[in-house]
Amino acid sequence: MQEQIEKIKQGALTEIGRCQSEKELEKILYKYLGRKDGQLTAILRGVSELPEEQRQTIGSLANKARAEIDQALQKKKAGMANAGAAQTGYFDVTVPGAKPTTGHMHPLTRIRLEVQDIFKSMGFKVYEGNELTDLYYNFLSLNFPDNHPAMDSYDTFFIKEDPKKKIKPEERRMMRAHTSNMQVRIMEQNKPPLKVIVPGRCFRNEATDASHDHTFHQVEGFVVDENISIANLVYTQKALLSKIFGQEVKVRLRPGYFPFVEPGFELDCSCIICGGKGCSVCKRTGWVELIPCGMIHPKVLESAGYPKGKYTGFAFGMGWSRLAMMKYEIDDVRLLLNGDMRFLEQF
Ligand code: PHE
Repeated sequence: MQEQIEKIKQGALTEIGRCQSEKELEKILYKYLGRKDGQLTAILRGVSELPEEQRQTIGSLANKARAEIDQALQKKKAGMANAGAAQTGYFDVTVPGAKPTTGHMHPLTRIRLEVQDIFKSMGFKVYEGNELTDLYYNFLSLNFPDNHPAMDSYDTFFIKEDPKKKIKPEERRMMRAHTSNMQVRIMEQNKPPLKVIVPGRCFRNEATDASHDHTFHQVEGFVVDENISIANLVYTQKALLSKIFGQEVKVRLRPGYFPFVEPGFELDCSCIICGGKGCSVCKRTGWVELIPCGMIHPKVLESAGYPKGKYTGFAFGMGWSRLAMMKYEIDDVRLLLNGDMRFLEQF
């Protein structure tokens, strides 16, 4: 008997839980608590005929079950009334509302907007760039001689050209391996003074791992004018990084080779995770390699058609994905683009 009561109660509660309309709710009421043939009513009615020693326990158990079912019915009914409040004009303000799910910005977008704001405040213009580019803008205009081994570290995805269309070698199309493909394109269309950033997506034919992906993001930047020096370069980067990380950072330059800058540098930033003491992120050195940069090579300024010797400039190619990883402590670059909601919902 006790088991039967429990079964009836559970049955009623599940049905109430699933119930979608007031009509259905009424049916459930009749089925279990109806005066004529409600399942629980039948049991309650039989209590008086039970042997003395069972009467008390079964009676109170059945009454408790009835109260529970009744309560669940009331609650559900109130919920339904609220849902229909728009029609009826009745609204119970004490019922918790349904939270609408809202989207939010991707961590890369957040960083881009931040970086853009900082550069705009320093007078830079923001350009969008061509992801599909050609041998000339990706390499030749940037002082990579054709077939030079320096191209090896920028291997990318090439477009299969129609062999019937006789294209010139420098027009061979490919996905850009770096945002530097925009340098000469923008210089050709603008006269100095020039202060520009180009946030964008880049592609490389790479075996992927935690720090390499075939698709990643960079922010290119360059300044061209008369008398631009390394001091301008260092100051700009230091100002940017201090703003982004919300604290004064130290920077240092090491020599780095890129055909389109001379001298070329790797700009390191003091590790913000450990404050320069040494940790796993900075590989115990206290410094994190963040921004390849340098003074624009005269050959690049020449590609742009600028008068020889008149202008100087600096350029940098910041790892935008890298920056997001540093800022949000993300340990695998592939997470940024694989669309896993469990990852994205954390931002
Ligand atoms: N384009 C280079 C790269 O992707 C980075 C760079 C940009 C270096 C500008 C110097 C100046 O590796």
